[in-house]
Amino acid sequence: MADVHDLSGRRVLVTGAASGIGRATAELFVQRGARVALLDRDRHVEKVAAEVGGTIGLVGDVADEGAVARSVAVAAAKLDGLDGVVNSAGIDLVKPVTEMTPEEWNRLLAVNLSGPFHVCRAAAPYLRQASEATVVNVASGAGLVPLKHRTAYCASKAGLVMFTKTLAIELAPVRVNAFCPGIIDTPLFRQSFENEPDPDAELRRILDRYLIKRAATPEEAAQIVLFLTSRASSIMTGVALAGDAGRTFH
Ligand SMILES: NC(=O)c1ccc[n+]([C@@H]2O[C@H](COP(=O)([O-])OP(=O)(O)OC[C@H]3O[C@@H](n4cnc5c(N)ncnc54)[C@H](O)[C@@H]3O)[C@@H](O)[C@H]2O)c1
Repeated sequence: MADVHDLSGRRVLVTGAASGIGRATAELFVQRGARVALLDRDRHVEKVAAEVGGTIGLVGDVADEGAVARSVAVAAAKLDGLDGVVNSAGIDLVKPVTEMTPEEWNRLLAVNLSGPFHVCRAAAPYLRQASEATVVNVASGAGLVPLKHRTAYCASKAGLVMFTKTLAIELAPVRVNAFCPGIIDTPLFRQSFENEPDPDAELRRILDRYLIKRAATPEEAAQIVLFLTSRASSIMTGVALAGDAGRTFH
């Protein structure tokens, strides 16, 4: 029987690919035979692309519609089409709503919600031409069940979940799914407790919300993105799949 996780011949754009879940996804996808374009606002993405065996590293801000349109066009030209997109670029903000500035709110929504919109909109013509095309939006458990002091983040991720479901209807038979992680050991996660007065106590408090009391590795998260991109999930679309160590189901 064919390996359902094989990505040979697949051409995939991964955003947020310079770090964390995006980087681990790009690396795993290359190992599974895909050709991968990596997009990130961080210039290191070009070096990361070389390190993981990606085809091209593109520097761009997903909140910038023009930059996204150019990057998607370059990626599609370099890969000779596109049949997969993974939207992993994202930012976090832990702040009471009354202390949040409109600029902070707008920036967070622009990156976490409008970013995937710009990418999917630009990639849709290529995805529609491909057979068995997929989109995976990396949302969050915070898009399913709220977290205190994360109004903008939770709103952006809940919006991304509903964007995913609506897009699945519009782009079918392209499969569009969301992955909702819990805590993954990346710079984004670490910044949420390392600057607290007592980081160890804050980490214990965070872990207390989870049934599996550890942060997952980016590689474990990438396996779920692979599942949603590969034939292993061939009849799944419009799903928000929690891979969140058991925080959100109860
Ligand atoms: N780490 C966790 O615990 C966790 C939990 C739930 C959801 N997530 C989500 O997973 C995704 C990946 O996060 P991560 O943990 O790998 O974080 P990370 O900080 O390690 O990686 C995020 C990457 O996105 C890039 N990025 C940020 N803003 C960008 C922009 N405007 N344009 C282009 N690139 C941009 C960063 O440069 C970075 O390389 C995010 O969407 C995040 O919200 C993470």
